[in-house]
Order: sequence, then structure tokens, then C-alpha cells
Amino acid sequence: MSALPQAKYLKDYQPADFTIEDIKLTFELEPTHTRVTAISKVKRCNKAALDFILDGVELNLIEIEIDNQLFTEFSQKDELLIIHHDADEYELKIITEINPLENTSLEGLYLSGGAYCTQCEAEGFRKITFFPDRPDVLATYEVKVIADQTVPYLLSNGNKIASGTLENGKHFAVWQDPYKKPCYLFALVAGQFDVLTDSYVTSSGREVKLELFVDIGNLNKSSHAMASLKKAMQWDEEVYGLEYDLDIYMIVAVDFFNMGAMENKGLNIFNSKCVLANQETATDKDYHMIESIIGHEYFHNWTGNRVTCRDWFQLSLKEGLTVFRDQEFSSDLGSRGINRVAAVKVMRTHQFAEDSGPMAHPIRPEKVIEMNNFYTVTVYDKGAEVIRMIHTLLGKDNFRQGIDLYFARHDGQAVTCDDFVSAMSDASGINLEQFKHWYSQSGTPNLVVKEEYDSLNQRYHLTINQNHPATADEQEKLNLHIPFAIELLDENGDLLALQHQGKPISSVLNLTGASHTFIFDSIKSAPTPVLLVDFSAPCTLDFQYNDQQLINIVRHATSDFSRWDALQSLFIKHIKHAINSEDTQEQSLPYEILQLLKWIVNHPQLDKQLISELLKLPSFDTIASQFTVIPVDQIITVVQTFELQISIALQADFISLYRQQNDGGQLTALAVGQRAFKGMCIYYLAKTATDEIDKILQAQCDSDNMTDVLAALTALVLANHSLATAMLAQFELKWQRDTLVMDKWLALNAMLNAPNVVEHIKQLYQHPHFDIANPNRVRALVSSFAQFNSQYFHAVDGSGYQLLADLLIQLNKINPQNASRMITPLMSWKKLDTTRQKLVKKQLDRLQQLENLSPDLFEKVTNALK
Ligand code: TRP
Ligand code: ZN
Repeated sequence: MSALPQAKYLKDYQPADFTIEDIKLTFELEPTHTRVTAISKVKRCNKAALDFILDGVELNLIEIEIDNQLFTEFSQKDELLIIHHDADEYELKIITEINPLENTSLEGLYLSGGAYCTQCEAEGFRKITFFPDRPDVLATYEVKVIADQTVPYLLSNGNKIASGTLENGKHFAVWQDPYKKPCYLFALVAGQFDVLTDSYVTSSGREVKLELFVDIGNLNKSSHAMASLKKAMQWDEEVYGLEYDLDIYMIVAVDFFNMGAMENKGLNIFNSKCVLANQETATDKDYHMIESIIGHEYFHNWTGNRVTCRDWFQLSLKEGLTVFRDQEFSSDLGSRGINRVAAVKVMRTHQFAEDSGPMAHPIRPEKVIEMNNFYTVTVYDKGAEVIRMIHTLLGKDNFRQGIDLYFARHDGQAVTCDDFVSAMSDASGINLEQFKHWYSQSGTPNLVVKEEYDSLNQRYHLTINQNHPATADEQEKLNLHIPFAIELLDENGDLLALQHQGKPISSVLNLTGASHTFIFDSIKSAPTPVLLVDFSAPCTLDFQYNDQQLINIVRHATSDFSRWDALQSLFIKHIKHAINSEDTQEQSLPYEILQLLKWIVNHPQLDKQLISELLKLPSFDTIASQFTVIPVDQIITVVQTFELQISIALQADFISLYRQQNDGGQLTALAVGQRAFKGMCIYYLAKTATDEIDKILQAQCDSDNMTDVLAALTALVLANHSLATAMLAQFELKWQRDTLVMDKWLALNAMLNAPNVVEHIKQLYQHPHFDIANPNRVRALVSSFAQFNSQYFHAVDGSGYQLLADLLIQLNKINPQNASRMITPLMSWKKLDTTRQKLVKKQLDRLQQLENLSPDLFEKVTNALK
């Protein structure tokens, strides 16, 4: 048996013994035998070091030369190449062969629908050639790509410096990237594409060529991504003074891709679903997602590429910061409130669950077996919340100065999260020493708030306690520096001035100790506190609000986010109440809340998209996070009951308001809001079938706008409406040739609220559109089921869990990275009831006993079973 995968620790970091400062790569592309020649300038950095140790995985070594002499003083062990050579500097030439056709891991060099492409982050470059595959080895790259003429486009990072035809009839291109980079940013693409070209003039007047490569026939879906790129370039100049630094920026869309996109220097590679869009095939959500991911990858050019990570434990250095930047980009271009709601939902549904589960880790992990397992909502989204807290503590101007100092100090370097925080505190003069614990401590702090109104002295006291539940990785916790933003409203919903002893108090309270009482003077009557405004820290909050206070906030708070947040609290309060009470009378939404919802949907000024967000009950996972033992069946029943109640109470409003919306298929914020609003109306309407409603639903299914069609189909599917099957069939017939649209169809099928859904999914494995080697297909079908079909995923016969485990067993061989990402819904099994715990454990045991369990799944399954 092979040795168990070993963990690496942050505390063991050592600088590299040898470095490569310049590398020339030649690729002779063939589907099964691609020859890679690497000529590197090697330099010893550590005088005491003996051997130069390079990483290499699944490589066929052909030959090694040193300074133009055949070299044989090497050894190979596991996934290492060890060079025994005394010189302090030498030229190392390594020839290897690789097999892109058989590479289904989508890491290294592989074929995606006939096109060669690469994915090197985190540790994929070692599948291309032997190299010290770590982000602190920075080199300049020159890359020659040779292929048959049938492969017209030959691309790599940087600028093209030569191209031509060879004697054997093949052609080539040579690319040079003048910026030093870590090998995870290397990229190569070769294939046949349609190209959308454009250009952008930077603020200093340089012209940059923009090229977007898509599959033949897809040009009519490429303009939104290009427009988004230009907006991102302009935004980074305006907000951070950061300009693009090469003469060309290329984006390639590929169908086989493990994640959303990759920021390779000058040559981003994207999952096609994060690029392609037009009104017939993409929803408004897709448009928004594309804009944000295009922005994200573009922003990496500075936060990630020009300044990169010293080691992979520092991943949040680039990801947390870049997510923060893309969130701000989206908020500046669109609605700040809606974007904040979306980010907080991710935290509450996914990140809190990760933090309370067996894979809990700080945003800067300390122990890693498989790095691919740490591209997590914690590193990305909680990482962005940590940056946001720094922004809140420093203020906009200090934050910008901190960023400027960070680039002044570290441009061209591979650095740590501590380096980032030092730049922030040095530039602002604000002490962030205690704040730094956010980087090293996992878990979601729980804030318990108590109020006391002293009417005699017209004083209001708020006492805030911070508590730190233990997590799977760490028992003892430190107190954190928490920016706690508040507002106080009077009984009319007007904002009260915050002051104490004649001095104004900032609306952001600094909580540093275990407990602190804040006192506010001149408060004429008991106020309504709005707490943790804009989710100023990633914490849970306990405060005994009464319904009137929450309704006051929903009606009057200035921040859209706070209104949504208060309504969520109101829903959760009553969902919990319903679950905990025996009395069926208590298991319904009170009349005042239904009246509040009626007031909201009819509100003439409120943004329509916000209204549709407000009307949504919290997701299954968000509700589940409120319990130590998840009452699966009760959550499902109560949510169904509440939704039915809303749909009956507001039916007349929904129908008449629905008919008033007239978005004309536009892409303006107003039209997007109207479509979201219509979608919310029919979601509720579908639950109460009448002839009139059926006609509305049918008509919307026939729309030529994908947002409308998908909203209608989703409503039918989730309501188990009698029209669902026929409308899904009609949709399939219409879109069978469009892969991305067919993924939407797969997801809809997986969400069918029907007892035979597991059998149905198994049959869809045979559908011509399905392909287990394509992550988009697999996730559309199976992850949608596990995430959105809670009732049948958690079925007490265990069939849902088994469906997922069966798939993971297959994927373990084909694409371990994707398998490992898809196991998430099984990870929180210890929070389930004992019956379900046994069922999940049975599946985890099956996985653990697999021969050839990948390190990716090994790490997760081992932790889950601990
Ligand atoms: N760095 C990429 C991003 O955040 C994501 C990424 C990491 C990735 N590893 C990957 C993408 C593997 C695809 C495959 O934008
Ligand atoms: Zn990123």
C-alpha cells in the first residue's frame, strides 16, 4: 500500500535553496505525446544546500543536460527529481513527455473539447515539467509553442515576439512575459477559436489590445464579457490608480474547467459559463456573475500577480483582497445593498457551515494536506470580510494609502498576509496587532448584546459580549478586535445622534475585550438598535428583538442591507418558534408580518430587486445553522407552510403587480429589478394553481428572455406543479444544442420536488448531454440536487446520500479536485439526527475504504470521520 498523504505546516516554511530566475519552454504539442523542453537558469540561494529538488508528477523524463552536457547524476523519488550538482549557477535543460489527452484531472496541460489548455494553480505546473513548484520562485518566461496547422491559435503569457512555419509543416509562436512570475501563473492555450477583438487606452495613454477567444460560433455571446473587462480596467484606474501593464490582455473560454476562472498573467482562462451570455441564453444573474468574475481575474493582475503569495498558506493575501475588490467593483457599478445581501448570504449559508464543520480553518490555514482543498469560502469570502473590516477600521482614505504603500514596498515580490497588514497599519498609524488574530483563528464569533434604557437620565446602554465557540481545528480562542457598526432609531424610525458626555461617538464601535458596555446620552425614549450594520464583522448575533423593533427597522432603516437583515431575523425568529412549539396555531406567520410583506411588495419607491430579495425566506442551510441538531423535516415543513401562507395572503397583490411590470427585455437596473420582481411573484403564485395563474406561468415559459423562462420553470419545479414536466420537455427540445443552457435544464431536473427524483437523476447520467468528465455537467445535476433539493437529498432511506457517494467514487478517479469540492454536503453530518448520521457515515466509510483514494478526498473524509 502506498504511504498516506502527509500534511504540510505553515510553521515549517523555509526559503527555497535554489531558484530559477529565467526559463525557456518549448512545447511540441501532440494529443498523447507532448514534448516539453525546459531550459532554466538555476541559482543556489542557500550555500549549505546540497541537492536541487524539483517537483514533477506524471511526467515521462526523457533527458537532462547541464550546461549543454548530458547529465546523469540525478535521482527520482516519489514526485521529486533530485539533482546532485555542485555549481552555484548553471543552465539546466530537462526534456519530458506528457499526455494531455488522458489528463482528466483538468490540472496541468489537458485537452478541453479539442483545445489544449493549462491550469497550474495551485500545484499543477509540476504536471508540465520538473520545477520548484512553489509561489516564491519568480522567473521570467519565454515560451515557444509548436503545433499542426490544424491548431491555428498558439497562445501563452505576455507578448508575442515571433511566429512562423517550420520545415516539417508545423507552425509556431514565441511568447515572452517580461514580468517575473510564479509558475502557477503560467498558461498555454492552443486551438481553434473565434476571436472578439477590442482595445483599451489606459489613463496614461497606452493602448492595450483586448482579445476574447471563444468556441467557433459563440461570438454572439461574447460582448458582455468584453464590456465588463473594459469597465474593470477603468475602475481599477479610478479607484486604486492601477493601470494594466502589458500590451495585450487575452481571455480564453473553455468548456472543461474546475473552477470559475484563472488569472494567468496576460492570458486568463475562463470556464465558458463565466464568459458567454446573451439575452436568450443567460439570466440576469449570469450577467452579474460574469461581470464580477471578469473583474476578479482582472484585479488579480495587481493583487496576486504583481504582488504574489510567499507560500500557499498565504492564499487569502490575494484571494481575500481580490474578492473584496470585485465586490466593491460590483457595488460601484450596480446596487450596493443588493451586492451586500448576496455576499452576506454566502457567509451565512456556506462559510458559517464550514467554520462549524470538520474542515474548519482560519483564513490563513496552518496545516494542509491537499492545497486544492483550501480554495474555500473561508479563504475567499471570510478573507474578503477581513479586508472589509480593515477598510471599516481605517476609513477609505487610509485604506487607499495602505494599498499604495503595499505596492510601493512589495511590487515584484512574494509576500505574506502579515506584510499586507503591516502596510495597512504603517500607512494609517492604526494599531492592528489584535486585529491580526482574524488571520490565525478559525470559527465564527458569537456576539451577545444586551440593552438597558435609563429613562431617568435619558441614557441608553449597550453591552456586547464576544464568545468564541470551539472549532474542529482549535479549542482555545482569543478575543478579537471587532468593528461593530450600529444605528439607533427612534419610534418614528428616525436616526438618533450618537453621543456621550457632549462628544459624538463613531457609529463603528471598537470591541476588543470579552465584554464592553457603550453608553449613549440624550436618548429621549427607548430606541431601536440596528446592530452589526452592513454586517460590519463576520459574526453571529444574539439580541432579544421584539417583532415591533424588527418591523421598525424593515420600514425605516437607511441601509437596504439592514432592512433585509431585520426581515431575515424576523423570519428566522418565527421559523424557530414554529419548530419549537407543539401548538399548530403557533406554526404560522403572524398577521403583522404578512401585513409588512404586503406593504413591501406594494411599496412604490423600493427597488424591485430589493423587494424580491426581501420576500425570500432564508435558505435551508441558513436556517439549519441556527440549530445544534438540524431538524431537517421540521425546517422543510415550516418553510413550506410559511410560503403557502404568503402566497395565499398576497395572491391578489402578486397577480396585479405582476401584470404591471414591463421590462421590455432591457438590461437596465430597472428592467433587471422588474424581472426579479416578476420571478418572486410567480414563485409564490405557482404554489396556488388557478387557471389564471397557470396561464401566466405558461406564458412566461414561452418568453424569449432566459431570466423570465428560468424563473417560471424554477417556480414550476419547486412547486411540483402539473405543468413542470411538459415545460421542461419543451425547454429541452428548444435548447438541446446549447451546452450551457442544457446545464440549467439539468439543474432544474435535479430540483424536481418529486419522490422519484433520485431515479430520475440516475437516468439523466445516460442523457447525451451529460458527461461525468465535465465539472459543469456534474455540478449542474448532482450539486444542485444536494444543495437545493434538501427534502430528497436528506431522505431517510439514505438514497440521496448514496447517490452523491456513488458519484464521488467515480469522480475520485477522473477528477479528484472536483470530487473533493462536491463532498461538502456530506461534511456537516454530525449536526444531523442519529438516523441520518448513520446513513451519511455509511457513505463516508465507503469512501474511506476506497483503494486509491485521492489526497483531496482523503483529507476531507479523514477529518469528517474524526
Ligand atoms: N485563482 C483562481 C481565482 O480565484 C481560482 C483557482 C484556483 C482555480 N485554483 C484553480 C481555477 C484551479 C481553476 C482551477 O480566480
Ligand atoms: Zn481569485
